[in-house]
Amino acid sequence: MAFRLLSVKLACLTILAVASCGIIKANGIGDRIGIMEVKGQREFDYFALALQWPPTYCRHTRDCCSSNACCRGANAPSEFTIHGLWPDYNDGTWPACCTRESFNEKEISTLLDALEKYWPSLSCGKPRACHEKHGTCSSPVVHDEYSYFVTALNVYLKYNVTKVLSEEGYVPSNTEKYPLGGIVSAIQNAFHATPSLACKNGAIEELQLCFYKDFKPRDCLIKSTSQKGRGSSSSCPNYVSLPTYVSSGVDRLETTVPWVTAEEAIEEFGSM
Ligand SMILES: *[C@@H]1O[C@H](CO)[C@@H](O)[C@H](O)[C@H]1NC(C)=O
Repeated sequence: MAFRLLSVKLACLTILAVASCGIIKANGIGDRIGIMEVKGQREFDYFALALQWPPTYCRHTRDCCSSNACCRGANAPSEFTIHGLWPDYNDGTWPACCTRESFNEKEISTLLDALEKYWPSLSCGKPRACHEKHGTCSSPVVHDEYSYFVTALNVYLKYNVTKVLSEEGYVPSNTEKYPLGGIVSAIQNAFHATPSLACKNGAIEELQLCFYKDFKPRDCLIKSTSQKGRGSSSSCPNYVSLPTYVSSGVDRLETTVPWVTAEEAIEEFGSM
């Protein structure tokens, strides 16, 4: 059965986020409750583009729903997909929930096909409110919801990690292990900046590329083990795997995603 998803549930973004920001939600989906700066948060220092390796992430898939790209069977994403574009501080912390702007899908309706392909949700679980939590702190570089998503897509399309790795022989495999240092070097050589990686059971789960506010690449922070979560390289062993999908036994929904080439997408959004 092939069907278009009517309501796209994007990874890491939903109005439920408002709750995680400790703000009382006034109205329904898409209603603005005004832009109010949350006091005490200074302007961010740099951006991290967090990319997910879906086969690693999808190993933990427990249940399927139409919004979960892990369940697209043969059409499940086979390259790094966007997890988020996050404003960060140089001290390893980050601002969150900077305005009381709630997510409005209408504003990005022209981007939904590209977002569904390149920024898919990889779970059915509690949606994480990453636009409100992180996107709203991108000011003054990125001003509104639409430009936040266009910017993330453009940066993603420009810095193709999947391509860089495969050109160096780091191709998806369930048997090979690759030296972490080799993978880091491949990215450094291509983009002239050091990425940060996170692994799960020795498999790459997330890779972050970091950028100055003008979107020139810069080194990511190598975080200490005490700073769990975001882009810690310490969770990766010296030899890592880049797995392909293994059937998890859950029933998979076959859905098709409209194909958008990188060139079309860039034309559509305007180049950076
Ligand atoms: C990245 O490069 C790969 C291999 O060249 C290509 O198949 C893929 O479409 C590219 N991805 C994006 C998002 O441009």
